[in-house]
This record gives sequence, structure tokens and C-alpha cells, in this order.
Amino acid sequence: MAVRELKENVHSVGAIDWDRRQFDALIPLPNGTSYNAYLIRGSEKTALLDTVDPSKEHELLSNLKKLGVEQIDFVISHHAEQDHSGSIPKILEVHPNAKVVTNPKCKDMLIDHLSVPEDKFITVEDGETLSLGDKTLEFIYAPWVHWPETMISYLREDKILFTCDFLGSHFATSGTFVRNQPRTYDMAKRYYAEIMMPYRNKIQKHLEKIDEMDVEMIAPSHGPVYNNPKFILDAYKEWVSPDVKNEVIITYVTMHGSTRKMVEHLTSALVEKDLIVKVYDLTATDIGELAMDLVDAATIVIASPTVMVGPHPAALYAIYLTNLLRPKLRFATIIGSYGWGSRIVEQVKGLIPNLKVELIEPVVIKGYPKEEDLAALDRLADEIVEKHKSIDVMR
Ligand code: FEO
Repeated sequence: MAVRELKENVHSVGAIDWDRRQFDALIPLPNGTSYNAYLIRGSEKTALLDTVDPSKEHELLSNLKKLGVEQIDFVISHHAEQDHSGSIPKILEVHPNAKVVTNPKCKDMLIDHLSVPEDKFITVEDGETLSLGDKTLEFIYAPWVHWPETMISYLREDKILFTCDFLGSHFATSGTFVRNQPRTYDMAKRYYAEIMMPYRNKIQKHLEKIDEMDVEMIAPSHGPVYNNPKFILDAYKEWVSPDVKNEVIITYVTMHGSTRKMVEHLTSALVEKDLIVKVYDLTATDIGELAMDLVDAATIVIASPTVMVGPHPAALYAIYLTNLLRPKLRFATIIGSYGWGSRIVEQVKGLIPNLKVELIEPVVIKGYPKEEDLAALDRLADEIVEKHKSIDVMR
């Protein structure tokens, strides 16, 4: 990992994790990730902004060595999750005079998770500043992106906003700054969908606050740095807006082909009506892709066979995850086939309390779909089209 300069005396000193393929034993990382840490050297004091995942702590130490850093005065901790905080104990071991600067909530979490000694902390309030001599850091509380203690900081003289997880992307790239905008957009959208989407309303408020600031550069703790902040801020504004697109997501599982036949029929009917349809076989789905598509879609169709009167476990997982992610879906429905009996509709309804959706009449049938079942699916397609028209979806 190389040391990279953002501005004079502001360096990126974190690590790129090219090989990591999963985060939190949950989130797929098809393009790896990075743990960005930043070193700011003021005329009087030196601050390290966040650290790296403990698996990469040797790279952080080596980068600091390359820069000839003899003393770190402050370690700024924006977020207590271990991919950013996990190397704080090591930094404190190497730099015993360093203080950890954070908010009171994050302090408690760092004590809980990493046993950082209480006397190592300096706590800051929202809006408080820290002088490094010729550089000044301002701390801005930004809770719930994506934990309750998260905060961001602004380097006034250089107009750099350090946002930690917020506005980041799981994207291992050698570019310090965004090089490939469309690709970065996709990576950032995937990240938003998997991690930030449940906190859409809070994010809206943080974006409004950033709009009032004079920001030249946004430096997150994952993925490339934005030297065109408008690019990522505009993308976020679109994602958090209440608008949905003329898109239907169909997540399905099939055991003997009956539910697949229903999915194929409904998909054709919707495509012929010019809707955008995205179909996911849940036995082979990258949940990150699914989450990304949930950012904009107006409707989700949950297609599952019945296993012992309930949904197939693979469908249950997707339903549970969708409910957790709280996408701005407006409509949902259920289709599927059963062998002798089913309570799938009641069960699915009980699993999606977070989704503010209108449930369109499900089509749950016995056995292989017959003519009348296919006709019911045609009517379902018509109804989805009408529902989309009724809310004036974006195309
Ligand atoms: Fe990148 Fe919430 O940690």
C-alpha cells in the first residue's frame, strides 16, 4: 500500500484489501475494499483520522514510517466499527502520548469493543474544533451512518470533508481519486444499498448540512476520494429521494419448476408492458446486486414455493433482508405454488413490517400453473402497471 497525497500535509495512509470477499460475514465484496486512514500534519500537531482493519495494521504502520511520522498527537475516531477502529490499540502502543479524539458515544463503544483505556480519550461536542496549528478540524455529529455514534470531520483550511463510512464504497482501486465515474457510481450505490439505505431519512438531513458547507473534496474511509463532491452528493440525493422507478424486482425460488413457470409468465407479461423487470434466482443471487436494485424499484414480487406451509428458507432470507434494508418500495405481492396447503401469504405479511408497501392481491396456486392461473398472473401484471401509473413512477 502506498502513501498518497490529497493536499499538502494531508496523506492517505490506509490499506487496500484487494482480496476480501465478504464483510460482516454477510455482505459480498466482489471488488474488495479499502480501509482509508488519513494523516494530517499541522504546524504544531499531527492527527491520524481513523485507522484500518486489524488485518492490515502492518500496512498502516509501514505507511506512517514511510512518511517519517515520529509522533501522532491525536487519533480521530469517527466510528467504532473495527474496520476503522481496530488498529487504534496498536497506534496507542506505538505512540503512547497520542489521545483518541471522539464523541462520548463512540468513546464508550471503543472501550466496550477494544478496551481502549478511559484516560486516553478527549471527547468533543458537535461543532467543536481542534487546532493542529495551521490546520483546524471541525467535528460534526452525523449519527446513524450507519451506527449511532458516527461523526464526520471537516478540515477547514483545505476544505476536505472526512466522512468515514458515509458516502464510501467497497471498491479496491489504486486510484487515490475517482477515475472511472460510472464504475464508482455502481460501487457507491451497492454500498449505500447494503449499509446506508435503512437510514435514508437521517442521511437526507446530513446531506442538507453538507450542502451548506464549502467542500472541495470528500474523503471517505472506503473506496476512492471524491475531488468532485457534487458527483457523490447528487447520487445520494437521488437514492434517498422518495421517488421510485418503473421497475419490478422478482425474487424467486423453485423446487419442481411450478413457481419458475409462474415467474417466467409474469416476467413476460410485465416486459411486454414495457416495465423494467429484474429477476433473481435466490439460490444463486449476489445479495449486493439485489440490494442495489431495491434502491429504486417500485414493486417487489416474492415468488416462492411452499415448504411445510411457509415460504422456502431461501425466500425467507431474502424477505428478512429486504425488510431490514427498508427500501422505498411502494408495492409488494406474492406468487407461488404449493403441494397440498399453504399459509405463505399470512407468513410473508408478518415478515415485512418495515416495508411501507401496499400488498397487491397474491397469486398462490396448487400444483403446476393451469390456464386460469396464467390468466391470474396476466391480471396481476395489469394491476402492477396500473399501480405504477397511479403513483407516477419515474421512467
Ligand atoms: Fe466501514 Fe461501519 O465500518
